[in-house]
Amino acid sequence: MSHPREETSSVLKADLDHVWHPLTQHKKLADRPPKMMVRGEGATITDAKGNDYLDGMAGLWCVNVGYGRSEIAEAVYQQLLELPYYPHTQANPPASRLAERLSELTGGEPSRSYFVNSGTEANEAAFKLARQYQRQVHPTEPRHKVVSRYLSYHGTSLSTLAAGAFPERKSKFEPLPGDVVHVPPVYCYRCPFGLSYPSCDLACAKQVEYAIQAEGPETVGAVVVEPVSSAVGVLVPPPEYLSEVAAACERHGVLLIVDEVINGFGRTGAWFAHQHFGVTPDLLCIAKGLTSGYQPLGAVMATTGVFDAFLGEPGEHKEALQVNTWGGHAAACAGALANLEIMTAEELPKRAAYTGTYLLEQLRELLELPIVGDVRGLGLLLAVELVEEKEARTPLSGARVAAVVGACSEGGVIVGRSTGTGAGLGNCIVLAPPLVLSEAEADRIVEVLTNALKVMSDE
Ligand SMILES: Cc1ncc(COP(=O)(O)O)c(C=O)c1O
Repeated sequence: MSHPREETSSVLKADLDHVWHPLTQHKKLADRPPKMMVRGEGATITDAKGNDYLDGMAGLWCVNVGYGRSEIAEAVYQQLLELPYYPHTQANPPASRLAERLSELTGGEPSRSYFVNSGTEANEAAFKLARQYQRQVHPTEPRHKVVSRYLSYHGTSLSTLAAGAFPERKSKFEPLPGDVVHVPPVYCYRCPFGLSYPSCDLACAKQVEYAIQAEGPETVGAVVVEPVSSAVGVLVPPPEYLSEVAAACERHGVLLIVDEVINGFGRTGAWFAHQHFGVTPDLLCIAKGLTSGYQPLGAVMATTGVFDAFLGEPGEHKEALQVNTWGGHAAACAGALANLEIMTAEELPKRAAYTGTYLLEQLRELLELPIVGDVRGLGLLLAVELVEEKEARTPLSGARVAAVVGACSEGGVIVGRSTGTGAGLGNCIVLAPPLVLSEAEADRIVEVLTNALKVMSDE
């Protein structure tokens, strides 16, 4: 069913006249207006003209339970009637219950949730809490530096941009705050050291400890990592990488911040990606799948050990020294609880592991094509890396990657593309569909993508 035509054109006029879209060049929008999505059900969204698309990106890597979940809408509605919001310096039932449930899902640690509104804010708060923790635990040491990795993305505020490393996103805002030290990423297909796993002996993990030691451990507060680096093109680390990094952090009194803004809530086939690797983050940053996009909400979760460093007497000012108006928003937390109930009842992490393996196996057949260099993934977080030439691994040009994305959209399947990272990359097709994806829908993604890649291979 299409949206009434007059309504659509008047909305688009309002949009073109008054909206400022992110990452969008408005000069071209009058000729090619944005798609207007008006409905969704399961893994399918519908635009104003009545066209259906299989959403291979779950919105922006976030609609984990799929569209059209009236249970979440109902939970939010009831909470809005009861009490929409009250500052989180006091308690409210959905936020308390949600914090309790999150602690169960981590397996007990991290155990304590500090609520914010987005992934950026979760990382920003984690950096601040890490600094405050270090100031309180090591009062004589200036432990303010953060070790992060090249090709990572941690958000859009100035400090999280500084921790991230996408030149296209950050260069116009430099100089950036914070003292961030970057180390090479875990990118086995393009190993920064020219090595291969396992004979590499995890040179990339060793760089983290090298950086801590070279900077002076007494100056380093935290290391931030996304277990599977999503936006750059789904870099799945070797099994021992994260535990080596965690051990280095522990040796030097440095906090391990694990960014699971995308990885969390079943996406990789476990509730949290760090659970695949047997590590316990000191601080765990979550957002996106926490509400599956039905409400804006994020959180930093802290271990009991970290939290205890914030206990003190009145006047000592050891408490978390920040507040945000919407943190612990009652209606958003009610939505998150309903979302987690669906994920639990439908065993969506398990389902993502199953469908992800099924999809990965089929995508691997694409390796026969001359422009497919690598296929990788964990759960329903996958990437197909495109190259001009297999032997040299030269990244496929931006225009050709965009043409593949466009052809998939014309075929009714939305696929993503890795973010421009500088370094000549941005050449991966990325997939992060809703975790409710059926096998038939997975087949359709593969069919449409295969056709688009075959056409591009012949050009
Ligand atoms: C790994 C990671 N961290 C943080 C963020 C920032 O989240 P938000 O866009 O909700 O601020 C993102 C966004 O995509 C992300 O991919």
